[in-house]
Amino acid sequence: MEPVKITEGVYSLRVNHFNRRLFDSLIPLPEGTSYNAYLVKGSEKTALLDSADPEKAEVLFDYLKGVEKIDYVVAHHAEQDHSGSIPLVLEKYPAARVVTNPKCKEFLMTHLHIPAEKFTEVKDGDTLQLGGKTLEFVYLPWVHWPETMGTYLREDKCLFTCDFFGSHLATGELFSEEHVVYEPMKRYYAEIMMPFRSNIKSHLEKLAKYDIKFIAPSHGPVHRNPKFIMDIYRDWAVSGPHNKAVVAYISMHGSTYMLVNRLVSRLQERGVCVEKLNLDQLDEGRVAMALVDAATIVIGTPTVLTAAHPKAVYAAHLANLLRPKAKFVSVIGSFGWGGRAVETIAGLIPNIKAEVLKPVMVKGRPTEADLKQIDDLADLIAERHRTMSVPC
Ligand code: FEO
Repeated sequence: MEPVKITEGVYSLRVNHFNRRLFDSLIPLPEGTSYNAYLVKGSEKTALLDSADPEKAEVLFDYLKGVEKIDYVVAHHAEQDHSGSIPLVLEKYPAARVVTNPKCKEFLMTHLHIPAEKFTEVKDGDTLQLGGKTLEFVYLPWVHWPETMGTYLREDKCLFTCDFFGSHLATGELFSEEHVVYEPMKRYYAEIMMPFRSNIKSHLEKLAKYDIKFIAPSHGPVHRNPKFIMDIYRDWAVSGPHNKAVVAYISMHGSTYMLVNRLVSRLQERGVCVEKLNLDQLDEGRVAMALVDAATIVIGTPTVLTAAHPKAVYAAHLANLLRPKAKFVSVIGSFGWGGRAVETIAGLIPNIKAEVLKPVMVKGRPTEADLKQIDDLADLIAERHRTMSVPC
């Protein structure tokens, strides 16, 4: 494989992983993913930016077979999908220095046992001259680890952002198309960056001063439409929630399902967008994406033995980890003779700083009076959503 030219002296060494189906042993990957290294050739020095997941190291080394010399390996992030092949790169290019920040150095020494003497430390804003190519290092901590940084290649206005602006998308296309990349980007943002929204907001402000022509992330295609990319990140991380409710449910004998269907139709009649998610066939990525812009989360659960259904428990725990920006939460569901399903769910979501709207738990098959309670909940949600400034 030959490195793919982005612009003069700047090359993509994208390692596609088309058949990877799960990331972090958690998030399904319907479109695979990629691990992107980049090569920047100056008139005097050559830098490799990041590496690849070691499972796919042979693809990276296929790209490098014609590259005689690497002077610097810039490590933006110590997570192994980008750093895992650095020890192999150092075997092939023993004179190369690993350029990174002190925190990333510490992590690389811990996780990969790279010796301390191989490193050159850089601070936020430091530069490295390659000869006609100037690398400026930009700290971007908590995207989603504390050590992450990016690199701005001044002469070519190319910003290498590591996980930031990445997408879970394996593709042979060098550049992204907006309609293709939107969902894989959202899936990636939702899984790892949503809990760090305030950091993302700061980073967007920090990057505003850069004149950017290309955004080259470490997953998925290169972006040459930085405004579109920054705008969707602002929507996800900075803007308020949309006029949207997520109703995530599981049903055993149909009673909870009746409540869910009533709520969904009543919300829609009142102008609230609804994403209805059946937890029976759970795609964690789909749940995470739905939570990115929802104003309300409703968990629908029957009672199993004495508590909420385990699949509803799992979804609530996942939502709590992801810290979505929802303003309102509720629980609806059913029971046979008793139980504490509402208390189970409520105890699982302390990170979601939302108003709890009165739950509706019914005994057995819902009666008309029970369904009236659902109608009242729909009225309340629609009323609360009138303050949402962003439509769905
Ligand atoms: Fe793609 Fe945080 O590694």
